[in-house]
Amino acid sequence: MDLSTPPPDLYGRPRADTFFRFLTAFGDRYSPALGSPLLRRNPRRPHSRPTEALQLVVTARRRVAADVVELTLADPSGGPLPGWQPGAHLRLALPSGRERHYSLCGDPAERSGYRIAVRRLPDGGGGSAEIHDTLHPGTRLAARRPRNGFAFCAEPAVLFLAGGIGITPLLPMVREARRNGLDWHLVHTGRSADTLPFAAELRALDPARVHRRADDEHGGPPTGAELLAHAPRGAAVYCCGPAPMLTAVQRALDASPAASLHFERFGAAPVTDGEPFTVRLGADGPELPVPADRSALDVLREARPDLPYSCKQGFCGTCEVRLLAGAPDHRDRRLTPERRADGALLPCVSRAAAGETLVLDL
Ligand code: FES
Repeated sequence: MDLSTPPPDLYGRPRADTFFRFLTAFGDRYSPALGSPLLRRNPRRPHSRPTEALQLVVTARRRVAADVVELTLADPSGGPLPGWQPGAHLRLALPSGRERHYSLCGDPAERSGYRIAVRRLPDGGGGSAEIHDTLHPGTRLAARRPRNGFAFCAEPAVLFLAGGIGITPLLPMVREARRNGLDWHLVHTGRSADTLPFAAELRALDPARVHRRADDEHGGPPTGAELLAHAPRGAAVYCCGPAPMLTAVQRALDASPAASLHFERFGAAPVTDGEPFTVRLGADGPELPVPADRSALDVLREARPDLPYSCKQGFCGTCEVRLLAGAPDHRDRRLTPERRADGALLPCVSRAAAGETLVLDL
């Protein structure tokens, strides 16, 4: 895999996925207006079909690692929830108006509740802290139906690699692999044993196939080769974790017994091929320099802390702003050519050439 360019697809697929972009655009055009204050405030967001909206209530909360809580979310009337497949995520509108995406970590066969697990991030944008501090049984939330951009294909031999909270999309896949009698192994890594969620649940699945590896017991994080050493020959690798872990696995893949890699990363990918450019807030507003290694969104949020965002990977559309002038380098996987031509810009990933100024309607 060529590591000098960004991953070819958000979820590790080998080429640009126009179908996914079409599907996303279609879903947004026809999907529901959520009842959250954030969405009501955002006039750019298109109207959507009510059938996509979900009203959920927190029915259970438990701690599953030192700084991780698991929530169970159910239909307030007790009815069955829309189905989903392993790898799916839920888009939640938090009471503050923030939007966040969380992988579903329960069992798709349990239609009475969705399970999500959230690690408190002290240096995050406040979404995880809000969940930890304010969501308790009885709290109501708006959401959208689960979507899946990290589908599990149930190949005969599979290696799951989870970095910390990255276990959440993989847990339903592991259950499915076990149910289908696949040759699977899971490596779960993290800073220390007490930061690894779902330890007991994973052990109960098959202790011989679950390999826990805490950095503090091994003198640091594992190498890519170390992680891939657990792969059965010809295995498909499903990896979810922080950027350095994904990079290490990508680099070691060709020399490993594994045959393919599917991945989902947390948060923003590091900016590795950026140039410094400038964003201006309005035609006469202040100019803000965007360094080569930072996103425009991060710079904009220093001036406008309430600018919404969610995925920071160019697929959810939450951070959309309107471009008034300038030549952007669109790097998202969401906007259609028509929307781009119409001035839509996703500053979490999109940039400009060195020295360029993007004038934004902010
Ligand atoms: S935050 Fe999701 S597209 Fe920018």
